[in-house]
Amino acid sequence: MKKAVKDFLLVKNTQLNHDNFRLDLRSEEPLPEILPGQFVNVEIKKSTEIFLRRPFSVLDIDYKTNTISLLVKILGRGSKVLTTYKAGDKVSMIYPLGKSFTEPEKDDKVLLIGGGSGVAPMLFLAKICGLKPEQVHVLLGARSKADHVDVSEYLPFGQYYFTTEDGSLGEKGFVTHHPVFKEKLGEFDKVYTCGPDAMMKSIAGKAKDSNVFCEVSLENMMACGFGVCLCCVEKTKGKGNVCICTEGPVFNIKELKWQV
Ligand code: FES
Repeated sequence: MKKAVKDFLLVKNTQLNHDNFRLDLRSEEPLPEILPGQFVNVEIKKSTEIFLRRPFSVLDIDYKTNTISLLVKILGRGSKVLTTYKAGDKVSMIYPLGKSFTEPEKDDKVLLIGGGSGVAPMLFLAKICGLKPEQVHVLLGARSKADHVDVSEYLPFGQYYFTTEDGSLGEKGFVTHHPVFKEKLGEFDKVYTCGPDAMMKSIAGKAKDSNVFCEVSLENMMACGFGVCLCCVEKTKGKGNVCICTEGPVFNIKELKWQV
């Protein structure tokens, strides 16, 4: 798909919790189809010290208003500066980048597992995968209740489960401790996940043992976003070292050289 570099107008910046913000960015032109797992690379112009663009997964798209919504979690200086942008600011983005998750079959029962900023593509996938809500199970993990973002807008699209490390919401522990994962993994046709590496590796290991289809969206460091700087390389079985920004960020776990 052809990439574009365009200025978007920030129409709304909503603080969701202490370190997560939703940015709604409007284009003057119609948007191409953008699918869950794909990302945009955002220029942070307001800081003279930040030269590299920052990648963000897409949380939602509204084709009627040509709006892309991003979930921006403060992870460093770049994301922090971006969260200070105000409605009316211009934001340059390169889009759409990367490859999306495999579309589920119409009778699939799927488990979507998100942690950290990896929640964004899971919510987007739940919303547009085209399955009935009873086929879509979404498991979200965070440190505490305060670290979870409000997902009420996405509740109509699936069954939701939560974990927290301190037990303040849902099951206490990591996502892999939740019964829907621990005891029911084999009931799912497909597992999709995005979040911290350790979380995804643990999920991938169990999915492999249970022989369940599993795709992960990697969050390796990125700069250019389109295969030039080589800072996002990942080892794969079939293709050797690949740039995840062009060959991924979504991979089937069978393609990766993870020790799972
Ligand atoms: S981010 Fe530059 S090659 Fe992937």
